[in-house]
Amino acid sequence: MGNIASKQYPRITQLRAITTDTHQSLDDKVMSYEPFESNENYINFLRFQHKLMEKVAPLYQNKQLTTVFNDLGSRCRLNYLELDLTDFNQPVSSINNDEVNALSLPAAIGWLYVIEGSKLGAAILAREVGKLNLTGEFGARFLAGPGSGGGSAWREFMQSVELLDFSESEEKTMLDGAKDAFLYAHHCVDNVLANA
Ligand code: HEM
Repeated sequence: MGNIASKQYPRITQLRAITTDTHQSLDDKVMSYEPFESNENYINFLRFQHKLMEKVAPLYQNKQLTTVFNDLGSRCRLNYLELDLTDFNQPVSSINNDEVNALSLPAAIGWLYVIEGSKLGAAILAREVGKLNLTGEFGARFLAGPGSGGGSAWREFMQSVELLDFSESEEKTMLDGAKDAFLYAHHCVDNVLANA
């Protein structure tokens, strides 16, 4: 982010600064499993994405959060991931979401930053799925379909985050939320990809 953007989005800039290292190591870890080298690798990548999205899905229906982001429901990609897994005849699991349902608003904003931000990287990954002949109609709906956007969708997300009025301690809770979300993403990679 350039200087002007940093001034316009100070909260996002801070979120990004405190998660740069964990983002980089997550990116490296995911790519080390070569997700686009074979259908088998790609299915494991989908399972990782699904495990992550499944955890956060309730946030996209949360009443407090939908007043902050009015298009929040349409940003959830869980259904697309389920369809992608089904394309490959993969079972779709379900997990306990109690922990995410109990998050405070600032912590939930930190988590959402991580998931919504991950779509920026996904836009780059979407170019690679062509190698496997996957599309927004088969296997790669979650990367190509509605709700997958960067661009104006990301800008609107950042603007809404900046408008929130947080105390100093809420600010810290939000940053901790983002760190926890990245930790969970690492845990998902370690669990799904490393055991594949
Ligand atoms: C797997 C390979 C990944 C690659 C190659 C990748 C790459 C990228 C790239 C290129 C950006 C855009 C930076 C920009 O436009 O300025 C980005 C942003 C971001 N990614 Fe990733 N990413 C990956 C995985 C993930 C995952 C799994 C998560 C979280 C679960 C994640 C979270 C984020 C966040 C939060 C941002 C927004 C940073 C900001 O501008 O504040 N990324 N990523």
